[in-house]
Amino acid sequence: MFREDFAWGVATSAYQIEGTDPDDGRGKCIWDTFSEEGHTRGDNASVACDHMHRYKEDFALMKELGIRAYRFSVNWCRILPNGTGEINPKGIAMYRDMIMEMRANGIEPFLTMYHWDLPQALEDKGGWLNPEIVDAFGEYAKVIAENFSDIVENFFTINEPQCIVGLGYVTGVHAPGRKLPLEDTFKISINVMKAHGTAVKKLREFARRPIKIGYAPTCTVAIPASESPEDIEAAREKYFRMSDKGNNWAWNVAWFSDPVLLGEFPAQGLELFKDYIPEITKEDIELIHQPIDFVGQNIYNGYYIKAGSNGKYEDVPMYPGFPQTGVNWPVMSECLYWGIRFAYERYHLPIYITENGMACHDCISVDGKVHDPNRQDFLDRYISAVERACDEGMDVRGYFLWSFTDNFEWEQGFHGRFGIVYVDFRTGKRIPKDSAYWYKTVIESNGGTLASTREQATGCSLNRFE
Ligand code: FCB
Repeated sequence: MFREDFAWGVATSAYQIEGTDPDDGRGKCIWDTFSEEGHTRGDNASVACDHMHRYKEDFALMKELGIRAYRFSVNWCRILPNGTGEINPKGIAMYRDMIMEMRANGIEPFLTMYHWDLPQALEDKGGWLNPEIVDAFGEYAKVIAENFSDIVENFFTINEPQCIVGLGYVTGVHAPGRKLPLEDTFKISINVMKAHGTAVKKLREFARRPIKIGYAPTCTVAIPASESPEDIEAAREKYFRMSDKGNNWAWNVAWFSDPVLLGEFPAQGLELFKDYIPEITKEDIELIHQPIDFVGQNIYNGYYIKAGSNGKYEDVPMYPGFPQTGVNWPVMSECLYWGIRFAYERYHLPIYITENGMACHDCISVDGKVHDPNRQDFLDRYISAVERACDEGMDVRGYFLWSFTDNFEWEQGFHGRFGIVYVDFRTGKRIPKDSAYWYKTVIESNGGTLASTREQATGCSLNRFE
């Protein structure tokens, strides 16, 4: 059972949907540059879903689909075109109007401050590697609090620090596309977490009323191959370890969540990477470890782990032809249950699933509709796994389906349709997919229409190994 006030929502991010306007006063961000340099499959987000001109239509559609909560982000360069200094009043006015419009449609706003649109002006000064970014982010947080806290109660600071560091600066697959030495990437990770801590302080200091603040990390979940206590502990052990592969180090939970939520860096990681980690002071940890109200978890998939014969964990390979999404991510709904359970047992904070969903090769059928049975089946299983966590007493406050509309999927350009609303990118036309109407019934029944029972949702994957 979901709680009565469960936040049934959808999620998006500014850069992926808004588009631009010659007159919008927005500054340039690293993804503009990255697209110009040709790293986004020939696509760019100058129009995207044109949400900045169509948000009234989009919120009316959300209302029609029964959606009650909306996790969206603010583009830093719309507010502070150079990252610091001069404020762009048009950006403030646009987001205020958007938020008022959401509210008028009965949709509760959840504002994310940073979903990867770093002002190019700051990247030119070293980006997340330059320690000055911590104060710059604090300045941005002050502006956010002063201008939006009267109409927004729930805030997230940073989306997926793992991707900011790992994809932006280790592998360079995301903007700004840099491949830096390990030492630098550890410094960046600490700057990101200090920026989070500074933002929490500034948001609270300048908010016009008491607000709630969270953080939205991600990871691929280690799923126990069976529910034996040994396999569960093996999976937990693996989930909170740091990888020993240098180019994949940022893809982990403990490094980015333990300092923020527990006030300590993971000992195993400190030891493993001791030659690369800069000095971390007591003051740094105090700044990073600010009290927050809830934690977001962006969870899409996982991998299977069992207890090995020598007391260590072992990978359990997926069987040939394992189900996968339109962007080749494995489909394994148990990741939501275990992701919530492991996070809740370690951090003891209320949880929102801040992102979860599926890319499909959607298209308009001959009947003019968009049929997406795979997404509906996926969501049914995944949301049922959230329900299992609720039934077992974990404090899950809401679920934000990624995403409302198809959108600009970063380095993939427009390849990868994650929306429950189809967007024809030639015209901007929106067509709710079958899954959107299905989600409406799930919301209206507070989960009552989910077809997967608890046993089916988890049992089906456990059977995979029998
Ligand atoms: C997450 C991102 C989001 C979107 C989904 C598919 O990692 O936060 O912007 O790209 O993946």
